[in-house]
Amino acid sequence: NWTTTNVVEEQIALVREQVGDKRAICGLSGGVDSAVAAALVQKAIGSQLTCVYVDHGLMRKGETEQVEKDFVAATGAKLKVVDAEKRFLDALAGVSDPEQKRKIIGREFIRVFEQAQLEILQEDGPEVAFLVQGTLYPDVVESGGGTGTANIKSHHNVGGLPDDIEFQLVEPLRQLFKDEVRMVGQELGLPEEIVQRQPFPGPGLGIRIVGEVTKERLDLLRDADAIAREELTAAGLDRDIWQCPVVLLADVRSVGVQGDGRTYGHPIVLRPVSSEDAMTADWSRLPYETLAKISTRITNEVADVNRVVLDVTSKPPGTIEWE
Ligand code: XMP
Repeated sequence: NWTTTNVVEEQIALVREQVGDKRAICGLSGGVDSAVAAALVQKAIGSQLTCVYVDHGLMRKGETEQVEKDFVAATGAKLKVVDAEKRFLDALAGVSDPEQKRKIIGREFIRVFEQAQLEILQEDGPEVAFLVQGTLYPDVVESGGGTGTANIKSHHNVGGLPDDIEFQLVEPLRQLFKDEVRMVGQELGLPEEIVQRQPFPGPGLGIRIVGEVTKERLDLLRDADAIAREELTAAGLDRDIWQCPVVLLADVRSVGVQGDGRTYGHPIVLRPVSSEDAMTADWSRLPYETLAKISTRITNEVADVNRVVLDVTSKPPGTIEWE
């Protein structure tokens, strides 16, 4: 019979059997799936696991700290944090096209992650042969069902290692749906903010700035986003909405009046949606008082933003994200 306790115990036994006395690596994204997979494997093999978190500088306020502090405190996992903000911002400089941004972020991410893997291999020795992934049941069905291996290619080799290293995949969540993963995460003692986290795109705020991505714009968007999230949580709306992207129209300016003068600032878009699976979505009918509070606070507290607009487009025709 299905209980989270049974699932956890069964998977711990399976992971122990699979990994034996070897070592494993798990990439953390800040999301639920990788966090729960890592926590489970940590329970199974302890310090044989090393987690890697690539900080690409595109996360929301407090999210990196959540991984560095809260996740580590809750699990005791060994964590390697790679600060790659400058690298990502340099690679994104001058780029406005959404697809190009996504490609650059994806490419840099793989490079940085593989470099971190190689460093761990060099520190821990080549017996590191397992890669933990938070694959869920719907992902398994979508991709046709096979379990896999992953390669580190030799062109990334920093020397002293075998030419091509093949990792066996450890996928302890392969039989679970999202809500079950959250239950398992709770059972494993992960903080509520991680377990109940709403979807957030891998390319992060990089695809929520319409226009070029710069550090200044990211900081501005982080402030606006933090206010929106704070007010949605305070209003008890987190479970009602699927997610609420907050978007900076960096190349748009409009005239405003603030304090004792005329301003010429940027608009922030709120994109609250309700959805079952993100394939289709409807714009959420948020209470006016909540919208008013978010608008007032963002325009008061975030310099250079003088207008807050609400996206009332369903999906289709609009996607959830703006890029
Ligand atoms: P769209 O914008 O296509 O988004 O309606 C559907 C859902 O997917 C999320 N999303 C992503 N998630 N990597 C991710 O892991 C991505 O590149 C990405 N792009 C969009 C989006 O937040 C929404 O939940």
